[in-house]
Amino acid sequence: MNTVGIQRISLYTAPYYLDMDDFAAARGEDPEKFHVGLGQDDMSVLPPDEDIVTLAANAADPILREFDPKSITAVLFATESGIDQSKSAGAFVHGLLGLSNRCRVVELKHACYAGTAALQMAANMVRVNASEKVLVIASDVARYELGSPGEATQGCGAVAMLVTNQADILALETGTGYYTEDVMDFWRPNYRDTALVDGKYSTMVYLTALKHAWQSLIESRNLNYQDFARFCYHLPFGKMAVKAHGRLMKIAGLEANDDELTHVMGASLIYNRTVGNSYSASLYFGLTSLLETDTNNLANQRIGLFSYGSGCVGEFFTGIVGKDYQSHLYQASHHRLLASREKLSFSRYLSFYKQFGEVERSDNIELPVYTKGRFRLSAIRAHKRQYADQQRPR
Ligand code: HMG
Repeated sequence: MNTVGIQRISLYTAPYYLDMDDFAAARGEDPEKFHVGLGQDDMSVLPPDEDIVTLAANAADPILREFDPKSITAVLFATESGIDQSKSAGAFVHGLLGLSNRCRVVELKHACYAGTAALQMAANMVRVNASEKVLVIASDVARYELGSPGEATQGCGAVAMLVTNQADILALETGTGYYTEDVMDFWRPNYRDTALVDGKYSTMVYLTALKHAWQSLIESRNLNYQDFARFCYHLPFGKMAVKAHGRLMKIAGLEANDDELTHVMGASLIYNRTVGNSYSASLYFGLTSLLETDTNNLANQRIGLFSYGSGCVGEFFTGIVGKDYQSHLYQASHHRLLASREKLSFSRYLSFYKQFGEVERSDNIELPVYTKGRFRLSAIRAHKRQYADQQRPR
């Protein structure tokens, strides 16, 4: 049996959120458009003293309290919210977490797909050398223009996964289905700190990539719909995944109905409803949500996962849930994290949004403390980002 895969999975998101009711009131929209039409109740908002590095370090922290930081052999950092064109965000995380110098670090990019590219790469590293302990981190901040249709689908978060030959959480099966096409559905040129998107077109391309990736998986392995206990999707917003699964059932010759949709994917949507889009991390927010909130024991069951990154790449892959997975989840601390976030007024959300842009463009700035997370961005001095560990006395 294949035991290479995810040994631990840990989430982190910003300690602030905007309620979609307040968003709707400020933008003059019906709140049901967001709750029902998009499937979103809130979105996490990044404070000015956090970025993809602090999100990532805060996500990985619980794993490195359980496992020796010096045992990590590689960090694969997936993001499309890069803070530097040369230095990998993973190098900052490597320093903050006190990892060994006998470790490799690299940053990977392909929109929201990069988290899956990193995960598959990590699994292959372990298949080649069983002593590898790879820390895969997907960390992103979803930002669109104020007042644009995309604004309602923002959010932020990071997922850290320890990938080894002891897959307590999810053993990754070999043989996946994939699809690539050169399209302009969503992109962010170097001179912008918000994404450009052809919104409706992007939802169509997502579904096209899903169809081809699924067919590629089914053709390459002797599997059919009934071989899957649950499904997880890339989650730009919850409704996208519901539509995707309805489409998948149709392709599989089945009729979509609400009971089946709730049963096979409902639990995967719960965390995303309140966090919003976290780009490369969002599929893994979905997986964690599924494992931590589904009321059935999913041990030894097969999960299907669809990863989508605009531009575009889609990959459908599968994993088998570990037999004792529930005792290895950080469920209680994830629930505390989500429940303890502070609600922002709409004007404070706008202030955080504006400050994000100012920090992005600064080469010298001191940042007051906003975050409650362990790691924070404290300053940029002479073009160099400075991070602080709030638990280590200075
Ligand atoms: P919009 O045009 O403002 O919304 O933007 P809409 O008018 O299409 O309404 C949305 C849904 O709400 C519709 O449902 C409405 O009917 C419904 P649908 O017809 O689609 O089933 N609705 C209501 N429902 C109940 N009560 C009401 C009500 N009013 C309306 N009163 C759009 C929507 C998704 C285009 C926009 O938010 C956007 O551009 N988002 C960003 C792009 C995006 O998320 N695309 C998803 C696929 S691409 C992807 O996933 C990759 C990505 O994560 C990036 C990456 O890979 O890096 C984005």
